[in-house]
Amino acid sequence: MALLPILEFPDPRLRTRAEPVQQFDAALKRLIADMLQTMYAAPGIGLAATQVNVHRRLLVMDVSAEKHQPQVYINPEIVARDGLEVSEEGCLSVPNVFEQVERAARVQVRAQDQDGEPFERELEGLAAVCLQHEIDHLAGKLFVDYLSGLKRERIRRKLEKERRERVSGAAKPAAHASARVI
Ligand code: NI
Repeated sequence: MALLPILEFPDPRLRTRAEPVQQFDAALKRLIADMLQTMYAAPGIGLAATQVNVHRRLLVMDVSAEKHQPQVYINPEIVARDGLEVSEEGCLSVPNVFEQVERAARVQVRAQDQDGEPFERELEGLAAVCLQHEIDHLAGKLFVDYLSGLKRERIRRKLEKERRERVSGAAKPAAHASARVI
């Protein structure tokens, strides 16, 4: 297994629309294992292939407190949504930024597992938020897109400043609320 580098906003590759997965082979299983390892190490509770510069419709997540319930969704589509809920989100591709985002409270998702078997599942709470956030990634969309242009620009400048400081070795480790980093 290997840790994969995670693209960070405003990297234009994060805007790529992912293509459907067609081959359910050993390479796909290796990618899934690498993505799970990368997500747990980050640490985060969800990761879309787009974020590791693989533009295929695949995401992994684990919203369990003990981090022992990995979920894999291949070619996921939301087929029903219900209710609205606002909650705080962060993102591994937008480090140390947390903002309120409104999403459907409950979703029904249709997807395939790593062997290509189709399944459907109903999600609510954090799992529903996480899945919607990751499916957005596959469409080239980021949670900062739900904010005002002014706020997004402020976030972009803050991240670029932090990256410069990281390069010059002056960066302080930031507080990390990893429970909401998706
Ligand atoms: Ni994210």
